[in-house]
Amino acid sequence: MSNTPLRVLVTGASRGIGEAIATQLLDAGHSVALTARTAQDLEAIVAGRTNKNLIIPADVTDSKSANIALEKIISAWGGIDVLILNAGDGSAAPIDKTSNEVWEHSIAINLTAPFQYLRAAVPAMKEAKFGRIIVIASSAGLIGEPNVSAYTAAKHGVIGLVRAAAAELAKHGITVNAVCPSYVDTPMTKRSLEAAAERTGKDFNEVKAALEAKQPSGRFLTPKEVAKAAIAFIDLPNITGQAEILKGE
Ligand SMILES: NC(=O)c1ccc[n+]([C@@H]2O[C@H](COP(=O)([O-])OP(=O)(O)OC[C@H]3O[C@@H](n4cnc5c(N)ncnc54)[C@H](OP(=O)(O)O)[C@@H]3O)[C@@H](O)[C@H]2O)c1
Repeated sequence: MSNTPLRVLVTGASRGIGEAIATQLLDAGHSVALTARTAQDLEAIVAGRTNKNLIIPADVTDSKSANIALEKIISAWGGIDVLILNAGDGSAAPIDKTSNEVWEHSIAINLTAPFQYLRAAVPAMKEAKFGRIIVIASSAGLIGEPNVSAYTAAKHGVIGLVRAAAAELAKHGITVNAVCPSYVDTPMTKRSLEAAAERTGKDFNEVKAALEAKQPSGRFLTPKEVAKAAIAFIDLPNITGQAEILKGE
């Protein structure tokens, strides 16, 4: 990873993949702005660290949150080098049981929020002629599976955003890439497994083992593996517009 301290914003930084990303960046000496809705979870991550950091409690689905977060970062640090768009959420339901509320939330958190944060960060990155934007998308952004239409549509959409932004921003020294993990061992996956066990009447461990066996590496990815793959884009100036399914190490 780059030895020069960078100014980084990570959304959804309080647990799961976002926590692993924030922790790896802090360990490497970077300045990290962390957002999530729950401030005390973010404070626990930076506790005892001497890095420059900013805790920005925010709901990314609030359309004002992106501009507010970027204003705080620019005013504190004078710019932003890396934007990691990780906050996201999904729930499973067959199409005819997918409510408008579930659909709208999925689009809001997985597609509209990344667009709004990217839009808010681009002017400072253009001015600096440097930027790295990394989206934690999903294998659901590249392939279709049953019972996840809202999440799949939103993640396909965000990969479209990555490709369009990559094409538009390359001439400004800004790269835009996505990582597309399948299942990762995080609280979000635990919630999905609990819901699937409830829906099917099966045991949690049985549902988990069946899903693990279907993964490319026969197991769930770890948040650390996904974080490492995402952070790797920071040091790749010539790679942009990429969105590939992530396999285990
Ligand atoms: N887990 C997987 O198997 C998997 C696979 C592929 C892709 N992904 C993607 O990876 C990303 C992270 O997933 P994860 O499994 O680490 O999720 P997670 O364990 O549920 O953590 C989500 C993080 O986002 C924050 N967050 C949730 N809703 C938010 C909102 N409205 N505004 C701001 N922050 C919010 C949470 O903190 P608060 O609740 O305090 O806000 C938390 O820090 C998501 O984009 C997900 O789609 C996950």
